[in-house]
Amino acid sequence: MSRRKIVWITGTSSGFGLLASIVLAQDGCEVVATMRNTEKQTELIRRAKEAAVADRIHVRKLDVTCESDIASVAKAVVDSFGRIDILVNNAGIAVGGFVEDVAMDDWRRQFETNVFGLIACTKAVIPHMRAQRNGTIINISSVSGRIGLPAFGPYAASKFAVEGFSESLRLELLPYNVYVCLVEPAAFKTNIWETSLGNTSIPASSAYQERALRMMQQIERTAQTAGHPHEVARVIRHIARTPRPKLRYPVGKGSRLSTVAKAVLPWRWIENMIVKRI
Ligand SMILES: NC(=O)c1ccc[n+]([C@@H]2O[C@H](COP(=O)([O-])OP(=O)(O)OC[C@H]3O[C@@H](n4cnc5c(N)ncnc54)[C@H](OP(=O)(O)O)[C@@H]3O)[C@@H](O)[C@H]2O)c1
Repeated sequence: MSRRKIVWITGTSSGFGLLASIVLAQDGCEVVATMRNTEKQTELIRRAKEAAVADRIHVRKLDVTCESDIASVAKAVVDSFGRIDILVNNAGIAVGGFVEDVAMDDWRRQFETNVFGLIACTKAVIPHMRAQRNGTIINISSVSGRIGLPAFGPYAASKFAVEGFSESLRLELLPYNVYVCLVEPAAFKTNIWETSLGNTSIPASSAYQERALRMMQQIERTAQTAGHPHEVARVIRHIARTPRPKLRYPVGKGSRLSTVAKAVLPWRWIENMIVKRI
């Protein structure tokens, strides 16, 4: 059996998941890189070859909303490597729009992926980590898991759920030497801005047309000035290297500041600032 750390990462076709797969493999881990459409593995494999770590990256098909995919990946990891040291729950989508304008199907899609998918993958590894008395579960949350903004309702609600889930689970698993952590990125340049938030359509009948448009313009500006996703991959690597990682890792411009501001400033001040901006 391999003595390298065995890592399972979800959503590795692009963004943080792809970069984290490479840096963790470079760090000596065996990485089970899962993605819902394995035809999208070309870029990951190209970069893995470039970094001379292709032999440590094992691509498997997994849609986080598909329970049979989850069961078969969990079994394959344990059958092949004998254990699972780290799970990185990274796969996610961002549904945007003002609450009244977002269809219930889109709310459900948001929660199926970001919340129930993450919970299902986590439940698949807990029995192994508990039996090993060792493990790390890294949940990719967001600054939107600490503060809700207009037009971010579905996404913020999903990430707040991830935060509450992670706090509870951390306390349940600490006696087994299993650490649950939250990475809370601010804005980083990945596909999510185009594929998810950028696709937000504002219904012609919306009562929020003007403000929704201003928020969309703000989102576009944020996407343009967002940080490099390597920063987040490096935080994931840091957690993977840490024997007893802490609960929260804010990362990027404004992530820590938003949290501190929310903790120390009266909420009325914060809401006045946000309302004035849009
Ligand atoms: N970028 C940011 O500014 C930012 C900030 C805070 C938090 N985050 C969080 O970071 C995580 C990664 O996002 P990213 O920014 O790296 O964006 P990304 O490049 O769009 O990556 C998202 C990944 O999730 C995958 N995915 C989506 N739905 C899935 C499903 N049902 N099953 C399996 N995989 C699925 C996507 O696969 P496909 O290629 O098949 O769509 C893709 O690989 C997300 O949880 C996101 O909420 C991002």
